[in-house]
Amino acid sequence: MQAETKKTSDRRSGFRRTKIFLILVSAGAAAGVLFFSFPQRTPKNKKPDFLEAEDRQLDQALHEKQDAVEIVVFYPQEPQAIQSAAKKQAEQLMNTLTAEYAQPVELPAARQEDPDPLLIKADYHTEALAQNTVSVVYLIQKKVGDHIEEERWGYLLDQQTGALVGADRAFDQTGLNRISALFRDAMKNQEATRALAYSLPFIQASAPAAENFSSFYFDENQLTFFVAIHADDPAQNRTVQTEDFSETNEDLENKPEAPTPDQGELLSWSVDCAKLGSHFLLKPREDSVDLFIPPRTVDPDRPMVALTFDDGPHPQNTPRILEALRTSDGASTFFMVGTNVERYPDVVRQVAESGSEIASHTYDHPNLTKLSGDRLNYQLNRVSELVSELTGQQVSVKTLRPPYGAVSEQVREAADTPLILWSMDTLDWKTRNAQKTIRHVLEQVEDGDIILMHDIHAESADAAVAIIPQLTAMGYQLVTVQELMQAKELEMLPGQKIFSGNPFTE
Ligand code: NI
Repeated sequence: MQAETKKTSDRRSGFRRTKIFLILVSAGAAAGVLFFSFPQRTPKNKKPDFLEAEDRQLDQALHEKQDAVEIVVFYPQEPQAIQSAAKKQAEQLMNTLTAEYAQPVELPAARQEDPDPLLIKADYHTEALAQNTVSVVYLIQKKVGDHIEEERWGYLLDQQTGALVGADRAFDQTGLNRISALFRDAMKNQEATRALAYSLPFIQASAPAAENFSSFYFDENQLTFFVAIHADDPAQNRTVQTEDFSETNEDLENKPEAPTPDQGELLSWSVDCAKLGSHFLLKPREDSVDLFIPPRTVDPDRPMVALTFDDGPHPQNTPRILEALRTSDGASTFFMVGTNVERYPDVVRQVAESGSEIASHTYDHPNLTKLSGDRLNYQLNRVSELVSELTGQQVSVKTLRPPYGAVSEQVREAADTPLILWSMDTLDWKTRNAQKTIRHVLEQVEDGDIILMHDIHAESADAAVAIIPQLTAMGYQLVTVQELMQAKELEMLPGQKIFSGNPFTE
């Protein structure tokens, strides 16, 4: 079938049409797009600077090179559950880009006088959304001669399963109704798309059904949709080429007034997610700008201990402990696992508002000594990023407890925070017996202790609720690790192992 072209200069400038990503609209299908495998050759020089990405390794990218074009597509490696899905998306993007630029006729004019290869870099950032989903947002930069053209594209993934997230999960029917109405209205109000907006193929393609709006991404409160319009049977393969630059405007003059779209069109359209209200079901939480972090005063001349709770937060246990602390005018340090921070953001905020310390216990509790490079850094830094997002930048994580207490020289060098261990291990996770834990703490406690417990266990919460008022009655201040170290005038350096507030303990 011969494509008809209705591209005119005003349409080109008036509304953004996206040519290259049509393949990605059809869920998972690679049909219809040519795949070019380039001859394997060793690059003569190192990768051009333009293709480098900040903070990313080359092994986090797909890299294709031929005479006319060199393309790098980065993709997320963490969390591990999304890695293969993200790679698959990156491969489809790479296929689309190589197919597009493999045809010399499609190369921009500027390219023809340029002896250097056309450079294309697709780098991404991610935005965390509700329900454990993440939006992966690509900025695709094409260096054509002296100037850089930019396009955007993206998709949503479930961070636990790695599955692509479509409109069926992101919007309820009211949301889809609004998207459809807003999209149709926007197209009618754009000079470039006005005629198309009244055509039957467009009306069908913009109906409020999940399958019409399933290619989208979220970035800075904007939702951007890629909507495919088909001239022919919509049930047919959607992955057809959309535009043909070789045709001229003259063709347009001979066309009838009411246009039908080309063989395939892909419209990209952005809308402020506030317009969808609660009908965008994955809306990220608002920053809690009204978070109140109570002031706390510690008397360095009175005895004190730091109770610490690992592996949470937990939706029942953690609030119980917070309540006991509040009653006793105490605070603790909660070493949180990133996956639970994502799961229970409200509990994280409750901890912040209690005056207790939010600390990191890594993203998903690996043995840090078995990791290196980006994987290690991700585990060391992810909780801090999550907490900062959840608290509207009002809380920053300043301490980390390595899972299993496992620390290597490499971990110490990579850490931006001190590494908090303990001077008393209650073994609460092992005994799962509140009475044993209570006795252990009350019989052995000393000024300056850092006491290890786990708020994911109900028995430990039971024990804490009993221990907290008793320690208070014994004259101990219940303080955070940071408060303890400050009151004892002890240094806390990045990578330093800290066992207690007693300088004579190792
Ligand atoms: Ni742990």
